[in-house]
Amino acid sequence: MTYQNIILEHAEAGQISVLTVNRPKALNALNAATLDELAHAIARVAEDAGARALLVTGAGDKAFVAGADISAMRPMSTLEAHAFSEKGTRVMQAIEALPIPVIALVNGYALGGGCELALACDWIIASERALFGQPEVNLGIPPGFGGTQRLARLIGRARALELITTARSIKADEALRLGLVNHVVPGEQLMEKGLEMARLIAAKGPIAVRVSKQAVQRGLDLDLANGCVLETTLFAFAFGTADCKEGMTAFLEKRPAKFDGK
Ligand code: COA
Repeated sequence: MTYQNIILEHAEAGQISVLTVNRPKALNALNAATLDELAHAIARVAEDAGARALLVTGAGDKAFVAGADISAMRPMSTLEAHAFSEKGTRVMQAIEALPIPVIALVNGYALGGGCELALACDWIIASERALFGQPEVNLGIPPGFGGTQRLARLIGRARALELITTARSIKADEALRLGLVNHVVPGEQLMEKGLEMARLIAAKGPIAVRVSKQAVQRGLDLDLANGCVLETTLFAFAFGTADCKEGMTAFLEKRPAKFDGK
């Protein structure tokens, strides 16, 4: 598949993938074709055994993603809107289900579907210029790509409801205070900060990173006792890997570990 609306690139000998939504004329708004391309690219990353981390960002310096494409949505019937929401939801779920950490680098507007795309990532680094919001009620619709669910789970019910029902957009510093983003950096340092974090992840035991993500993500849907059972099982599983032997041996031999994901 040749991409028209996104770019999938690789850095650090293929260990870091970078996915860029690339429709700057429409402020990177998500139409069906862009969602299809994202689904395709995410499946490629999922199958890439050498991938250690994924960075997701938007082209240009104005927008991460300014939302679902309003001109594409305006003529939609109920059934078409349902299919469009399902398509977007599948993309967000595919990002969430990736076995490697996914970091959103929010370089500008992250509104509606853009905020939802960032929320589907594991954490967000924002540029000082970033603006977050779920302004769908301005258009007479609710969020449709998981915003009502993921925003409430990340920042809490009351804060999410305030932002969604008032359509108030928030700047990066407020997003940081609310726990929506992990870090705020000057715009020109955003990609470097993302790469720096991805390099840290890439240097760790890849199996350990994957099962850690799985334990946190799946565990949040469980009660604490069952979450701890899941953790214990994954902890024991890791002891069967060569990476575990290498990590502990390297520590005791006072040398850096060399993990090969086995
Ligand atoms: N869908 C489709 N097109 C969009 C879009 C979206 N979500 N967001 C921006 N665009 C388009 C604009 O229509 C405009 O196209 P044009 O040049 O052909 O007229 C272009 O991108 C630039 O946007 P513009 O509004 O001129 O830029 P701005 O700097 O004045 O405002 C925003 C930026 C983000 C505040 C404004 O574009 C906006 O409010 N967008 C919609 C946000 C939204 O409601 N998102 C949720 C959708 S569910």
